[in-house]
Amino acid sequence: MTSQPAAAAKGLEGVVVAQTQKSKVDGTIGKLHYHGYNIFDLAENASFEEVIYLLWYDKLPNRAELEQFKKELAAERALPPELIEMMKQFPKGTHPMAVLRTGVSAMGAFDPTAEDSRPEATKEKLRRLTAVMPTLIAAWERIRSGQEPIAPRADLDLAANFLYMMKGEEPSKTEVDALDTFLILLADHGMNASTFSARVTTSTLADVYSAVTTAIGTLKGPAHGGANEKAMQQFMEIGSPENVQAWFEHALANERRIMGIGHRVYKVEDPRATILRERARALAEQSGDRRWFDIAYNLEQAARSHPYFIERSLYANVDYYSAVVLYQTGIPVDQFTPLFAMSRIAGWAAHIIEQWVDNRLIRPRGEYIGPVDQPWVPLDRRS
Ligand code: COA
Repeated sequence: MTSQPAAAAKGLEGVVVAQTQKSKVDGTIGKLHYHGYNIFDLAENASFEEVIYLLWYDKLPNRAELEQFKKELAAERALPPELIEMMKQFPKGTHPMAVLRTGVSAMGAFDPTAEDSRPEATKEKLRRLTAVMPTLIAAWERIRSGQEPIAPRADLDLAANFLYMMKGEEPSKTEVDALDTFLILLADHGMNASTFSARVTTSTLADVYSAVTTAIGTLKGPAHGGANEKAMQQFMEIGSPENVQAWFEHALANERRIMGIGHRVYKVEDPRATILRERARALAEQSGDRRWFDIAYNLEQAARSHPYFIERSLYANVDYYSAVVLYQTGIPVDQFTPLFAMSRIAGWAAHIIEQWVDNRLIRPRGEYIGPVDQPWVPLDRRS
């Protein structure tokens, strides 16, 4: 019998699969860095475009570089008209994440250079995808509600332009700031599942449209990016702050997971949740409607003081308060995960480029545990 190497931990927990310069997640002390810069400093001081630049070029841009970079991104925002026509054919009930996944894949069909994987061509395509994803998301919002998509504006930054295309009016500074913080915080996160899947696809030498489509599909699940939508649905199901305790006890009794709580790497509070909690609180206080913040906060407190959650080191993750922030910014609940993708494309692109630079096919093994040497049974003799 040939021996097989020992299987890695289930879910690849703790397995290091690549070296990266992009971000460092320290789950024991709750610290996140993008290329050495603390997420608290970036959330406080940077714009999303600065963070994209940092992740792609491994340095913060100076003023001239940032202006040039913003111009390049803004110039690529328009969707191919054929793609808009195609989206109009989709059933109106299609989930926005499915539309985004299909739209990104279709962008490859409209790009005659899609198969060109030289470094500069790869970077150009990733820049185009980063610029166009907000337009895709906003266009679907308009199309599914029977309206014409709004053309992007080049004079607005990414977050402001997105909200303008989504809502049809210029957003307030508060809305733009809240969205920009969200986009900064979700831009990269070590070897998370969608980033890993983008790297696996890239490692086969497939084109960037394939890699980003793979990543969007992976992000969609509720154990990953889909959790922000599910977290909001759970807050809506609870309905009011007074219902939290009864809902929590019922959830525990039925072994139901609290969405937006728990993390594979963080065994203390996710630092992004710390920042987003305060953002959510500020938005609630500003609007005078504390309902959603109070539901989320009370539920978090109930979990934090319960032995089940304490013993398993389960804390709020990024998706928990993202849900409250996005809801208060007027984003429809089923658009929360596409907004996660609109941010994470920054990290996916950085990792795709990093993978290309030092590529080797990612091809692990499985441990076969089925039967061996079975005698062949003809079809008419099978029970
Ligand atoms: N609510 C209640 N219990 C939870 C929980 C949650 N949100 N998350 C994990 N647990 C429990 C599990 O039931 C398990 O308990 P057990 O040891 O008694 O079996 C233990 O904590 C470990 O969970 P496990 O699923 O093995 O952890 P993981 O590292 O594989 O999964 C997540 C991590 C994020 C998928 C998981 O915490 C989860 O499902 N969270 C909710 C979804 C979510 O917010 N996803 C976004 C992540 S950023």
